[in-house]
Amino acid sequence: MKNIAVFASGSGSNFQAIIDAVKNGELEANISLLVSDKVGAFAIERAKGEGIPFFAFTAKEYANKEEYEAEILKELKDKEIDFIILAGYMRLIGSTLLTEFEGKIINIHPSLLPAFPGKDAIGQALDAKVKVSGVTVHYVDAGMDTGPIIAQKPVEISEVETKESLQAKIHSIEHELYPAVIQKILQS
Ligand code: GAR
Repeated sequence: MKNIAVFASGSGSNFQAIIDAVKNGELEANISLLVSDKVGAFAIERAKGEGIPFFAFTAKEYANKEEYEAEILKELKDKEIDFIILAGYMRLIGSTLLTEFEGKIINIHPSLLPAFPGKDAIGQALDAKVKVSGVTVHYVDAGMDTGPIIAQKPVEISEVETKESLQAKIHSIEHELYPAVIQKILQS
């Protein structure tokens, strides 16, 4: 069975969906580590509740990305991690991790890439007044949400859509799509 590390900066509802999919047998993987760049992230509480080891760091306490990614890399090697799963990790992955985990880093993004990359993809879609947005799962490269696309699902945006309602629609798609895509990749 493959060992995965989930990286999350926020609430971690996608992390929870991955945990739940492992528990109910839909995803065959060991969640061996949570990495977070926010020491107060709720994702860490989820890890604690599940007995999943976690590594939390504060980027500004390091001189640069190479330094904190070197620390992360130690943790990943210690836990013999096979794949890195980004789940709301709001930092670009640097060359330290990209080199060691080439083709083994996956991200989920709340838009139909290449539309609306970067921060606040949901707000960007509403501001652009598009009628359809969605969710993308993709491999991670050095760019901002630019790696090869693995899977996408559309979401219709209604006339009365709010940020909260669109976020809820997107989350419910993410929570089904991400564990299923991870399962396919880990077993292939
Ligand atoms: C998710 O919607 C994910 O697609 C997005 O952050 C949210 C995290 O929610 N990721 C990005 O925007 C990456 N560019 P969660 O903490 O509840 O899983």
